[in-house]
Amino acid sequence: MIRKAEKSDYEEMDLVFRESAKALCIRNYETSQVLDWIGQPWAERFIESANKGNDQFVKISNGKVVCFAELNIKNLKLNSIFVLPTYIGKGIGQEMLNFIFSEAQKAGLQYLDLDASLNAVNFYMRNGFKKYGISKFTTQNGVVLDSVQMRCVLGT
Ligand SMILES: CC(C)(COP(=O)(O)OP(=O)(O)OC[C@H]1O[C@@H](n2cnc3c(N)ncnc32)[C@H](O)[C@@H]1OP(=O)(O)O)[C@@H](O)C(=O)NCCC(=O)NCCS
Repeated sequence: MIRKAEKSDYEEMDLVFRESAKALCIRNYETSQVLDWIGQPWAERFIESANKGNDQFVKISNGKVVCFAELNIKNLKLNSIFVLPTYIGKGIGQEMLNFIFSEAQKAGLQYLDLDASLNAVNFYMRNGFKKYGISKFTTQNGVVLDSVQMRCVLGT
């Protein structure tokens, strides 16, 4: 089941973010960069992010948050999808991305942009995103990471 995130999900989302980045993003970045990025447990990151206009969604499996995504309708931007490492490769990222596409289409968006982490570029390319640039992405806590700017044109 995918649903809107509630404040009571934030601690679990923080865990998903930290575990996922530590296990999966570390393949394409310096270990120290990833450790600086994930920092200490900080569930409040999601309060800050919601205040910036991000819609937050969670996938619940076996009673726990196993994936979350953040979508910014105003900025036509998919901010993030993170899957708990023990749940990757089971179609959950795909299911969440399809959900995000349908939310974006419901909101009338014609395209979606994202700054993809290097490890996830091929996942997005398989799903209709095309690269249009490279950037230095500054994370919420000020760590600068190489990323790939991608755009997916949405069907009507
Ligand atoms: C990228 C991520 C969201 C994919 O989630 P997932 O649940 O493992 O993906 P799925 O199981 O839904 O995969 C769907 C398909 O994409 C493929 N795929 C998954 N990750 C891939 C990757 N990094 N590169 C290429 N293909 C990938 C799968 O093999 C699967 O293919 P199939 O349908 O032929 O079997 C997940 O690996 C993750 O959370 N990564 C770390 C966080 C991150 O970098 N997020 C992106 C931030 S912008």
